[in-house]
Amino acid sequence: MPSVPERVRLVEVGPRDGLQNEAFSVPTDIKIAFIDALSQAGFPAIECTSFVSPRAVPQLADAEEVMRRIARRPGTRYLALVPNERGLERALAAGCDALALFAAATDAFSQANIGVSIDESLQRYATVAVRAKAAGCWLRGYVSVAVHCPYTGPVEPQRAVEVARRLAELGCDELAVADTIGKAVPDEVARLLEALLRWLPAERVAVHLHDTTGRALDNVAVALAYGVRTIDAAVAGLGGCPFAPGAPGNLATERLLDFLEARGYDHGIDRRALERARTLLWEAIPGLARTDSPTAQLGSQ
Ligand code: HMG
Ligand code: MG
Repeated sequence: MPSVPERVRLVEVGPRDGLQNEAFSVPTDIKIAFIDALSQAGFPAIECTSFVSPRAVPQLADAEEVMRRIARRPGTRYLALVPNERGLERALAAGCDALALFAAATDAFSQANIGVSIDESLQRYATVAVRAKAAGCWLRGYVSVAVHCPYTGPVEPQRAVEVARRLAELGCDELAVADTIGKAVPDEVARLLEALLRWLPAERVAVHLHDTTGRALDNVAVALAYGVRTIDAAVAGLGGCPFAPGAPGNLATERLLDFLEARGYDHGIDRRALERARTLLWEAIPGLARTDSPTAQLGSQ
């Protein structure tokens, strides 16, 4: 346990990664109230939506309205995903100043998710990044399937590291390595971080862990031991990627908070406000999938 509490930055991805994976679209007013309540809980970053094709992800087709109408709290970064220049233009027109580019460590997943190979996606992102930086945006770069791919199996760390390196060269300020299908075990996460942190400082690294097999917190422990202090989570373990079979839920924010508190880390999140955000969503959408325990997630596959 650290003697002076160390701060861990939580990135709340529920509004984006969570709501993209529901069978129906949550009404826009509720999304906005949910994000506003998360802002009040004090998250340093909230991933709000995606400017992707509404055909691919109809659940987030209201991205413009969400980004225009949320109340921005000083100290919180409001992120949105963009897959291409069209997405960038939409995001900038909606007032975004923090964007996430999302690449993958395997061509198979890249094709399934965004319809192009890794190389083609990075070529696209090169133009997007130049324009986004010129517009003053902060950039996160995701490397999906950094440990396991639902289509091709285990992924060599060097492949994920190479994609992270190329995203960093494009100007991404932060690199988020993702266990998209929640299959990683601590040794695998250690190997990945060992390789990644050889050239990238831990301050620029985030981990994005789905919790399919209930190992996400073990993997957080590894990330913390390697000095990573930015961790993604979603309220009540919402979420998953519609293009990654077997990715039902993110690491639940509440479980991450318990875990950090038990180990003496400071997280800066107001738990009562978080509970209000969660209650608000639950009361508005009674049928929303609840995957806030590993058992529930295993049962929902
Ligand atoms: P495509 O069909 O190959 O692209 O989609 P296209 O350029 O041929 O365009 C097809 C149609 O989409 C056209 O419309 C375009 O205008 C439109 P049409 O002429 O047919 O009416 N279009 C767009 N519309 C709005 N916004 C745009 C846009 N781009 C094209 N930005 C595309 C390619 C990438 C757009 C598509 O495959 C797509 O949107 N995919 C969504 C992928 C996605 O959102 N995945 C989930 C997020 S990633 C994730 O969850 C993983 C993560 O959590 C980390 C982890 O856990 O691993 C981040
Ligand atoms: Mg995800």
